Amino acid sequence: MTKNLSGKVAVVTGAGRVQGIGAGIARGLAAAGAQVVVSDVSVADDHMPQEKIGTQTEIQQILNEIIEAGGEAIALPCDVRDEDQVQQLIAAAVEQFGRVDILVNNAGIGYLMKPMIEVEKDEWQTVLDVNLMGAFLCTKHAVKQMMSQGDGGRIINIASQGAKSGFPHLPAYIASKHGMIGLTRSNAVELGSEKITVNAICPNHITTDLGAEQNEYFAKFMGKSVQQYLDDMAARIPMGRPGLVTDIANAAVFLSSDDSYYITGEAMNVSGGEEMH
Ligand SMILES: NC(=O)c1ccc[n+]([C@@H]2O[C@H](COP(=O)([O-])OP(=O)(O)OC[C@H]3O[C@@H](n4cnc5c(N)ncnc54)[C@H](O)[C@@H]3O)[C@@H](O)[C@H]2O)c1
Repeated sequence: MTKNLSGKVAVVTGAGRVQGIGAGIARGLAAAGAQVVVSDVSVADDHMPQEKIGTQTEIQQILNEIIEAGGEAIALPCDVRDEDQVQQLIAAAVEQFGRVDILVNNAGIGYLMKPMIEVEKDEWQTVLDVNLMGAFLCTKHAVKQMMSQGDGGRIINIASQGAKSGFPHLPAYIASKHGMIGLTRSNAVELGSEKITVNAICPNHITTDLGAEQNEYFAKFMGKSVQQYLDDMAARIPMGRPGLVTDIANAAVFLSSDDSYYITGEAMNVSGGEEMH
């Protein structure tokens, strides 16, 4: 990895789970030379139980890994649904590192899996609030900071294959991720004059903690073992395997770099060829 992000400051939301995509992106950005804010929600609630959010131990482990590899990172808590917390996150990042150049909207919940007719209104709302409104709020406050700096910036939205195709039993998730592409496009048009690029990354499947839960649910739904479910998935993916956290991190590092200056409003598939539109 070249150190092409030296001097840049990145904020990654929902980055507090060791196996998670956010942590992988934080590691990748730090390895490329960025100073990184590893952020995650710190308080569990009914729809976000403790075992599904990053713990203090995990966050410390992620920081240690980055620092031991020669990178620079701090941890800051933030529930992306809460505008005051989002504002404080950006302010604290600036206080610590002096600026914000890159925002990765990675925080998301995807474990609400049930038939559409069983989804309660408050469950729907929680998913939309975290996955879509959270990305909007973080973008709003990061962009204010980037505009005050006057030299552009990078917004990267972690959407999904489910932002382009339908999947059963995930209505709120799929709707929120399709919405993320709309947000990406709208902001890309609006912010081009500020030299701020806005892009989405659409992973297919990665066995993170969330991914493992989805494997179990959908294997059962299809009447397969988890192994059979994963083998069948690998067989239909042109590149022959599900995604890895590092596949997404590499894409995020590229979209954060000067090399991607002329790319904005894109929803980039990182799916081994499984998703092509
Ligand atoms: N794993 C996959 O197969 C896959 C595929 C496509 C897209 N994605 C997306 O990638 C992102 C990361 O997913 P992951 O698989 O690493 O899952 P994960 O559950 O490991 O990570 C999600 C993170 O979001 C955090 N979070 C939840 N609610 C939050 C809130 N209100 N405020 C701040 N943080 C909050 C959690 O604490 C956790 O750290 C998600 O947006 C997900 O939708 C994942």
